[in-house]
Amino acid sequence: MLNFQYYTPTRVVFGKGTLDQVGEQVRAFGGTKVLIHYGGGSVKRTGVLDRVKASLEAAGIGYTELGGVVPNPRVGLVREGIALCEKEGVDFLLPVGGGSVIDSAKAIGYGVACGGDVWDFYDFKRTPTGCLPIGAVLTIAAAGSEMSDSSVITNENGGIKRGCNNDLCRCKFAIMDPELTMTLPDYQTACGCADILMHTMERYFNGQPESMALTDAMAEALMRTVIDASRALVKEPGNYAARADVMWASSLSHNGLTACGGGKGDWACHRLEHELGGMFDVAHGAGLAAIWGTWARYVLPACPGRFARFAVNVLGVEPQGDNTATALKGVEAMEEFYREIKMPTSLRELGLELTETQVLELAEKCDIATRGNLGAAKHLTREDMAEIYRRAR
Ligand code: NZQ
Ligand code: ZN
Repeated sequence: MLNFQYYTPTRVVFGKGTLDQVGEQVRAFGGTKVLIHYGGGSVKRTGVLDRVKASLEAAGIGYTELGGVVPNPRVGLVREGIALCEKEGVDFLLPVGGGSVIDSAKAIGYGVACGGDVWDFYDFKRTPTGCLPIGAVLTIAAAGSEMSDSSVITNENGGIKRGCNNDLCRCKFAIMDPELTMTLPDYQTACGCADILMHTMERYFNGQPESMALTDAMAEALMRTVIDASRALVKEPGNYAARADVMWASSLSHNGLTACGGGKGDWACHRLEHELGGMFDVAHGAGLAAIWGTWARYVLPACPGRFARFAVNVLGVEPQGDNTATALKGVEAMEEFYREIKMPTSLRELGLELTETQVLELAEKCDIATRGNLGAAKHLTREDMAEIYRRAR
């Protein structure tokens, strides 16, 4: 077990009808002029944007707005947002949406507070020294950005997707009303569940000889709960209890709780997927599912005991003759689960037919982005990365 720090400064406002508290929450955290930031229009169609504005008006808070964030959010719109905030004197950011919108707001927050070119923070050139305060209204349970220290932005110039991790961007509050996720297309619900699971799996396959019993138990309970809820939502998308479990899991899976004592985690699937997102604009959760099985078979010989435990405790696999056999059954069971929720288990099913040149380009970009330091379950070289992309086809 390793020493750890656990820092979660976000006030969680959870449950039915909590959306209407957004104005008072902004006021409680000192906001007087807000940028409402949102995506491609779902918040207009569902009426969420109107409710946000009504709540801000009732609380006497001024606002301006900027929509148009796309999945795999672009630095171009971030720069527009920074200019708008400076022009309008915005002192509080209010992303209303999912990970893409929240991440875009975090980048705007860095840009306004620090000046200079915001891409520097994603290109390892500078470390943020400040961020505008942010409160999030979550409309899709997935990325966990509402409680994470992370912001992932794509530079449309070169198709490069990069993350910046810093406590400064952590949200002051997060409004989590599971009812807001009822309007999601089934595909987005499933993508979200795949991402939530992966945030804990990345931490669970941590390469440590000995983990913390409590953390492992919480991680396994979280994964079992999300798997059960995902299955329930395939049959019954309006199931509030399942929506609530998934939404709370999205935050707990990525706020550091399931890493306590286990170190930084593996993160290979995430980093391999980020390159796919940057180059081909795929949905993050689907990209993760498409890679996971190949990654798991590739690294399993390095830690068969951990994979066997995952198989038994999370997926209910009967123990086989040895750890490797049990572990492989677990990988198969996980892939079967992905198919049940209509997630891809290969890049072809994700809609990609990678050429060898693209395989090598992806591996090169991933190696540069991770600076030769990827993987905890097994350290991956650039050639390992290429081989995983190749086999995942
Ligand atoms: O743009 P709109 O019209 O709002 O539609 C969105 C979008 O198309 C739609 N949607 C969201 N809420 C909805 C809804 N449609 C109907 N009803 C609702 N209530 O869902 C689509 C996906 O939204 P997006 O914000 O992209 O989803 P997600 O939360 O999965 O975020 C993905 C992004 O987060 C990054 C990913 O890489 C990706 O760029 N990540 C961020 C992390 C972080 N900051 O901690 C960690 C993650 O690992 C991840 O990398
Ligand atoms: Zn993720």
